Amino acid sequence: MRILSGIQPTGILHIGNYFGMMRPSIALQQDGETFYFIADYHALTSLRDPKTLRENTYRVALDFLACGLDPKKGALFRQSDVPKVTELTWILSTVTPVARLELAHSYKDKVARGIAPMAGLFSYPVLMAADILIYDSDVVPVGKDQKQHIEITRDIATRINETYGSAREPVLKLPEARIQPATEVVPGTDGQKMSKSYGNTIDIFGDEKETRKRVMSIVTDSKPVEAPKDATNSTILHLYTLFASDREKEEMRERFEKGGTGYGDFKKELFGKLWEYFAPMRKRREELLADKGYVEDVLTTGARKANAVADVVMKRVRTAVGL
Ligand code: ADP
Ligand code: TRP
Repeated sequence: MRILSGIQPTGILHIGNYFGMMRPSIALQQDGETFYFIADYHALTSLRDPKTLRENTYRVALDFLACGLDPKKGALFRQSDVPKVTELTWILSTVTPVARLELAHSYKDKVARGIAPMAGLFSYPVLMAADILIYDSDVVPVGKDQKQHIEITRDIATRINETYGSAREPVLKLPEARIQPATEVVPGTDGQKMSKSYGNTIDIFGDEKETRKRVMSIVTDSKPVEAPKDATNSTILHLYTLFASDREKEEMRERFEKGGTGYGDFKKELFGKLWEYFAPMRKRREELLADKGYVEDVLTTGARKANAVADVVMKRVRTAVGL
């Protein structure tokens, strides 16, 4: 089984990225050959500072490795180190209806937030389809917000197969999205989906003071200490669930419903758990940082493996379409 996913280097990784995409991707390394990449071509649609793009790309690779990604079990690489993916994007774009892209939520959301509606932003899902299809991927672990992009990928692959392949010999393999129900949407400090673009994140590798401050800023209602509290819709409890054992979760839930504990105390407990959870990863990150050249070596080796597969698939596609 071949497993693939990507993450944009548009900012600092947060715990929504960790539980929605990184942890499931790392766990899947037990089940097959993995291809994970830093989507720097995609980041160009929203980030226009070359220095920041380069630094973020390195940092995402470092943080992913620190979180436990094993580069021996697969490839970790920069998207732009496999330039053939842009050639496939072009070929795919010739069978992609504009009307299908006009329905993409992600495009509409970004434009509504003020990102300029450039052609690259509009065809973002076609590049994403090329990313997936160029490695003959079977499974794509992502958060729920990427589900539609995988559906578009399947549609585009089907169109290529119907136009250029046969039932016996499809040109492209249809991938499946893998979305973890328990962590499909990790809430941010304001209770909305945690996202770099909403300023509501808790970062994986933030410093202690800042991380505590972010946790303490989680929005709650104004119930006093003694009052029973709503356990079902609480962001604090939702986040605590990600770090605590079943028994600890149950215990906090009971204390919510009983009353007598203030939100501030619950937040402190959440911070304690969160800080402890990422401790081994912070240690690993320090070790990797001290090993100069390690991240770059991983990315170079990853790019070599990725190009070897992409070359084979592109040859097949070029032959099929008549190039
Ligand atoms: P952001 O919204 O912060 O810009 P990205 O779009 O770069 O995050 O997402 C990278 C990966 O992390 C995707 O697979 C996405 O589904 C996942 N992800 C991002 N935010 C969350 C969240 N709050 N909950 C679950 N998964 C998330
Ligand atoms: N669009 C994805 C995101 O914003 C990143 C991405 C680019 C991706 N190419 C991909 C994810 C291919 C999975 C597979 O999170």
